[in-house]
Amino acid sequence: MSRRRFLRYAGFGAGALALPSWALPKLSKRGGLKINLAATRTSFPLLPGPETLVDRFIGEVTEGDPAALEQIPGSFLGPTIRLRTGQSFGCHLTNNLVDRTIVHWHGMNVPELADGHPRNALQPGSSYYYNYSVLNRAGTYWYHPHPDMLTGPQVYAGLAGALLVTDTEEESLALPSGEYDIPLIIQDRKIDSQNQFIYGQNPFMGTIGNRVFVNGKLDYVLSVATRIYRLRLINGSNARIYKLAWSDRTPMCVIGTDGGLIDKPSQKPCVVLAPGERVELWVDFSHYPVGTQLTLRSLRIDGLQVGFGGGTAPRNGDPIDVMRISVDRQENESLALPSQLTPITRYKLEDAVNAYSPRAFAITFDGMFLLNGAPFDMNYVAPNENVTNDTLECWEFANESGTILTGHPMHLHGQQFQVIKRSVLPQFRAARDTVRAGYTDEGWKDTILLMPGERVRFLVRFGPYPGTYLYHCHNLDHEDMGMMRNFRINP
Ligand code: C2O
Ligand code: CU
Ligand code: CU
Repeated sequence: MSRRRFLRYAGFGAGALALPSWALPKLSKRGGLKINLAATRTSFPLLPGPETLVDRFIGEVTEGDPAALEQIPGSFLGPTIRLRTGQSFGCHLTNNLVDRTIVHWHGMNVPELADGHPRNALQPGSSYYYNYSVLNRAGTYWYHPHPDMLTGPQVYAGLAGALLVTDTEEESLALPSGEYDIPLIIQDRKIDSQNQFIYGQNPFMGTIGNRVFVNGKLDYVLSVATRIYRLRLINGSNARIYKLAWSDRTPMCVIGTDGGLIDKPSQKPCVVLAPGERVELWVDFSHYPVGTQLTLRSLRIDGLQVGFGGGTAPRNGDPIDVMRISVDRQENESLALPSQLTPITRYKLEDAVNAYSPRAFAITFDGMFLLNGAPFDMNYVAPNENVTNDTLECWEFANESGTILTGHPMHLHGQQFQVIKRSVLPQFRAARDTVRAGYTDEGWKDTILLMPGERVRFLVRFGPYPGTYLYHCHNLDHEDMGMMRNFRINP
């Protein structure tokens, strides 16, 4: 019998801390939500023939609105969790896997013990209780495992789900809702002749699949009416970077990024989505005749394999189809694209405590990708990784790792930031320019792609919770092999 270890943490309510006023959630009339979530290894009927061994999240509501948890029909992915700003959320996680695990709420600003740091990983058979109040604004977030060295294989095996937050600001806008508001988790995998997922760690490129899954389904077709849709795209892939475009070349209309709605809609020829990133699209199918078929495809990205072979096609950056849209029903549309969405107050560089000396993080390579030459250390926080609560800082990541280069999606836990500057070394400009038009730097971000030779500066206000959090590459192989570090928010 396995030993059960119940770790219970209580009292993380916002009231326990003196929060700055900007961080106080708007009070919600609804009660809290409590769920049970179990990570379980099981077999799943994915394709005709042998069932596929997957790891999956099984959820149930134990307190609050039963509709706040929604299983995607016929999918092995975790249930979509719907929360509201100001709401309190409790989750009792049970590890029924064969390995240790812990869940992280990607993009959510939570107390350190609710963040899913790998030091809190659970042994098989044990449980963990998360409890936090939702500080984030409305937006598309997601959850996935975060055990040290095992995040890649566990996400690949099926452990991921969407977490959608709503608030009154968002509700005051007439955006598509209900069945016209759809989260789409994009992932690539390889499958063998026995229908099993083939995971192969790769220190350079990461685990790249040859088939794209959307919401856990192959050859995904979204059947739509002649209406406007809000599509919330989440790149839940281990390593693949997508440059998304419609097959008929209709521009992408972006309304949201990692941290929620942007201030006004932004039309782009394509949208770049690196692992961990999210983007929300306003998509108008009302002018397509019933019977129209459209493809969401990923276009070529250059330069992701500098100094190494890059593996077999389709490599990272090669064109690949993501999903199909089938316009199946005539319906009348009443919505119109709002010219203003939600205001974003821009940080000012001169307000940063280190405005003229950004905190510098170099992506380096020494057999594997590292940050400032150092691998992950469960407990250590270097002097340059200590920040002060409620201060605005300027951070800079540089992807200039010598002769071995690829794209790295850099992610900070808990903090939404604002990109203020990108630059690229001249010899990498042409490759970088294959994605430039698809960056969504105008919105709140928690994950940003750095192409080879690229340097990114952003402003981030740390807080409100002091504690030790992570920053890392969201190429999960890079992360698992050590491209991850702690940072500490000091009170
Ligand atoms: Cu989605 Cu630490 O990551
Ligand atoms: Cu995260
Ligand atoms: Cu990386």
